Amino acid sequence: MSAAVSGQAAGTPPAAVPFYAPVGDEVALFEHAFRNRLPLLLKGPTGCGKTRFVAHMAARLGRRLYTVACHDDLTAADLTGRYLLKGGDTVWVDGPLTRAVREGAICYLDEVVEARKDVTVVLHPLTDDRRVLPLERTGELLEAPPGFMLVVSYNPGYQNVLKGLKPSTRQRFLALDFGFPPPDAETAIVSQESGLPRDRCVPLVRLAGALRDLKGQDLEEGVSTRLLVYCATLIAGGMKPAQAIRAAMIEPLSDEPDVKQALLRVAEITLG
Ligand SMILES: Nc1ncnc2c1ncn2[C@@H]1O[C@H](COP(=O)(O)OP(=O)(O)OP(=O)(O)O)[C@@H](O)[C@H]1O
Ligand SMILES: [Mg+2]
Repeated sequence: MSAAVSGQAAGTPPAAVPFYAPVGDEVALFEHAFRNRLPLLLKGPTGCGKTRFVAHMAARLGRRLYTVACHDDLTAADLTGRYLLKGGDTVWVDGPLTRAVREGAICYLDEVVEARKDVTVVLHPLTDDRRVLPLERTGELLEAPPGFMLVVSYNPGYQNVLKGLKPSTRQRFLALDFGFPPPDAETAIVSQESGLPRDRCVPLVRLAGALRDLKGQDLEEGVSTRLLVYCATLIAGGMKPAQAIRAAMIEPLSDEPDVKQALLRVAEITLG
């Protein structure tokens, strides 16, 4: 089985519901998708809350969660399973997608566009009204139970045209566009996650907004909510704000000395 599967081999069982602050109607949409047995595609920049949202929804719906980080070596067999040698015998070992289908769990494929083309062949019959997973090697045709749901995500910012999802794949999914939370919501999230009082998170969120406005000029991607949480966590732990901002909100964004200087200047102006 692929090392890319996170969590225990048995998937992450539903436990305490991880904190997730909704920013729109995404919770209701997810619930509708789940109830109607429709797959869901999440689009959005890095660190904007996609993974947290899926973990939250899985726990809320009482489903086990299998998360797979896709990469360009990921094959269909990594998802479905393969025969392995065990003590002289060959035994079939389910991959995470197969396990999720058998158990009626949620399977989350992160950065799905990175996966190899043969993966889409497996996903197609699962993501239309057939809801089946054919396992060629074992000769099984698994019917997905009502509790099974497929969620995939990708960051549209990174993809080159060649790597984008084919229409025949993307038009099998409901889709939800994730952006960064609006400032008030983001302040509440950063404060909750870091323990830094809200009023001290306000200027950090304002700075993130100013840095995000530079996206596309010198920056590939704006500063993420994840980095904001890092920054606030460092400050809550006693680090000087200027040092924390540099380490969490400037350095991770660029390697170019000129760009970093410009970002620092934006920080000085924004924070006054
Ligand atoms: N709406 C939210 N509620 C609670 N926490 C959030 C929310 N949005 C972002 N976060 C915080 O931001 C961090 C990063 O979010 P997450 O890991 O879900 O990003 P992602 O969109 O999956 O990014 P990537 O595309 O890089 O995988 C979370 O660990 C959490 O601290
Ligand atoms: Mg993620």
